[in-house]
Amino acid sequence: MKSVYILAIESSCDETSVSIIKDGKEEIATATLSQMDTHANYGGVVPEIASRMHIENITMVLEETLNKANFSIDDIDAIAVTYGPGLVGSLLVGLMAAKTLAFIYDKPLIPVHHIAGHIYANNLVKPLEFPLIALVVSGGHTDLLYMEDDYNFKRLGGTLDDAVGEAYDKVARVINLPYPGGPLVDKLAHEGIDTYPLPLPLDDDSYNFSFSGLKSAVINLTHNEGQRGHQIIPENMATSFQNRVVEILTKKTMRALKEYQVNRLIVAGGVAANKGLRQRLTELCAENNVDLIIPPIEYCTDNAAMIGAAGYYAYKLGRRADLTLNAKASDQLN
Ligand code: KG4
Ligand code: ZN
Repeated sequence: MKSVYILAIESSCDETSVSIIKDGKEEIATATLSQMDTHANYGGVVPEIASRMHIENITMVLEETLNKANFSIDDIDAIAVTYGPGLVGSLLVGLMAAKTLAFIYDKPLIPVHHIAGHIYANNLVKPLEFPLIALVVSGGHTDLLYMEDDYNFKRLGGTLDDAVGEAYDKVARVINLPYPGGPLVDKLAHEGIDTYPLPLPLDDDSYNFSFSGLKSAVINLTHNEGQRGHQIIPENMATSFQNRVVEILTKKTMRALKEYQVNRLIVAGGVAANKGLRQRLTELCAENNVDLIIPPIEYCTDNAAMIGAAGYYAYKLGRRADLTLNAKASDQLN
């Protein structure tokens, strides 16, 4: 069978990334420019700056990917692009690039949901097997999904407010750590003890999550201690916070595996790098005979390779967009 080469574009947040993927599983070439250092000066992603930087970077990243692969657009079968969810101004830059290429070179345009990309990042390591449960945890998303087969997503639940990575970054700021603070909170969490009485958020029968109350509890405790002239102990706060996050994420994920009688779990997104979460899931999955799959770090964070992997399955299912394809800040995955 003839191979399918997808050129994929991702620009939903602060990474401009272009990749060429063969048959949904083989990465031919990827180039990514991260804006993290610029946004770090502001303590978080500034949407207006992000879209301007995508415009500056997109053609360079596209050219670099084609050069690395030694490909021309004629070698490409279809153009896949993230249409959402994400920052609209950022998404539009990738969309315009993809639509322009599809129009000029007469290639099919494949719309890809960003979360489908995070899940299919795993396909670049080892082909996905079904059924599976996917936990997607990042700066922008916290979703629990059930997949019966390829590109068939049933969303079981997700965050009702802050994404888990967003909560990490805000807590980091409260304990005076620079952006993005998630990895630093994770590191500190391994040096402290769980002394602060933080609540276990949204400990109910649903598969939804809520992290804003937990984040507020950290802010209030820190504030109240400060008013009494006491300093909080950052490593103990990090441990207490991380323990609650890991407990609620793993509790609901393990329940979903049981309810859907699935013995395969995929964890994706930037927070999949969290050591506390990885450790606890490794233990629980071993106890329950669940196959745990977590992609390497470079595939956990935003990149176009994952969009190319997902895009291949969308392509095979005949999903196509026309030139009216628009950016969506939020959209259900289906
Ligand atoms: O997937 P990603 O690169 O971008 C989004 O799609 O959001 O995720 C970035 C998020 C940031 O909030 C960052 O603080 C968080 O992932 N993160 C972590 C860790 N490494 C990255 N959070 C907790 N522990 C970590 N080790
Ligand atoms: Zn992401």
